[in-house]
Amino acid sequence: MTVLTQEAMVRALEYIPEGSFTLSKRPDAFPSQGSPRFAARGQGPYVIDDKGVSYLDWICGLGALTVGHTHPHVIDAVIKQVRDGAIYSLPSVLEGQVAERLCGLIPCAEQVKVVKTGSEACAAAVRIARAATGREKIVKFKDHYHGWHDWTMVTSAKHPGVPDSLLSGILEIHKDFDFDEAAGLPAAFICEPERLLLNGFDLPRLMDVAREHGVLIIFDETLSGGRLRLGGAQEMIGLYPDLAVFGKAFGGGYPFAFVCGKREYMQHAWPVSGTFSGDAIGLTAANAMLDVFEEPNHNGLGASVIDTMWSVGQRLWEALETKAKAVGLPLNLGGNYPRFWIKDFGPDIDRRQAMSVFVQICAAWGVLVHQAVIFASAAMTEPQIERSIDAMTHAVNEIHHHVMLRGEPYKDSVR
Ligand SMILES: Cc1ncc(COP(=O)(O)O)c(C=O)c1O
Repeated sequence: MTVLTQEAMVRALEYIPEGSFTLSKRPDAFPSQGSPRFAARGQGPYVIDDKGVSYLDWICGLGALTVGHTHPHVIDAVIKQVRDGAIYSLPSVLEGQVAERLCGLIPCAEQVKVVKTGSEACAAAVRIARAATGREKIVKFKDHYHGWHDWTMVTSAKHPGVPDSLLSGILEIHKDFDFDEAAGLPAAFICEPERLLLNGFDLPRLMDVAREHGVLIIFDETLSGGRLRLGGAQEMIGLYPDLAVFGKAFGGGYPFAFVCGKREYMQHAWPVSGTFSGDAIGLTAANAMLDVFEEPNHNGLGASVIDTMWSVGQRLWEALETKAKAVGLPLNLGGNYPRFWIKDFGPDIDRRQAMSVFVQICAAWGVLVHQAVIFASAAMTEPQIERSIDAMTHAVNEIHHHVMLRGEPYKDSVR
């Protein structure tokens, strides 16, 4: 570690709990040696660390970036907007423009309320569902993440500072739950639809049961929106929820999230309000990002941003599987091409050790990956994908040959 990085680390650990404002980016979310610690800049598909070393970025700001860093169309719009101010004393005309555009693009959206983060938007959706139905209970699925707010964190094994009394307002179920359990008349089911579909869950049946009982369906599309399809999983499968939450990809790298849904339910969204919710920078970035999403020929080969992410992810997924198989490593991948993860490296290999080696070796080859997830980026060109495949091939070879980890492995975030 250079002196500069060491200084940054000491400062981060001294003044920030866990060393980062984002849990998944904290220093011990990465192996203790051999992977970059702090970012200084981002440029297209690259993130550049505090030592000036460039890495091909497969973390993509935890899914917030779909076209790499500093896309010129988004940046030009934002720079222009910065000169015109960010926050006004009246709503800007951009509010209605962006809301109209989102309603035209998201299948379930008749009205929209913009906030800043996915956690906030999920809390808003739950509040709206409770207000609209006059019921209290929310049903959520185990292992589905809906942000860090009290209403959802209370179901985690460890939830320091969250009152247990909130458990009366939430029921956590497993994907194999008995549908009759749903008949207790909750306000809503909330789920990450992509995760249920990957598990082969009968989502249409859940939606039928819910509607029979006047229970609302909330899709949390924070990750799937602007990645699986622009309109999220609902657009892909043709099943439309009553309310939905989007974030991450829509801001083009700037803070922007929203809750949307049917007008009759969104009438209950009036208390969802923030001083900075309508900030013109976030709205401008989102507006420009929608232009980029709507380009039919983003990659110059006739593919949109979403199609490009699918094909980039597919190249990487298939190459990784093939190369691992060739060395006899039974690599097990999960997810969809635009966002996937290494579930394990076979039954006899400790995932934490192996994944830490994987992250370390990729970094040595100038490729940045996270232990939990790989995000495809439409900014990656063919030579950059090839270079990433080479790095990952080298990593799986080394894991197969039981190369030892340098330093400590990453740590899981739930303590
Ligand atoms: C499915 C899902 N919902 C909600 C959130 C929370 O979003 P944010 O981190 O913007 O608060 C996340 C974040 O990763 C997420 O993946």
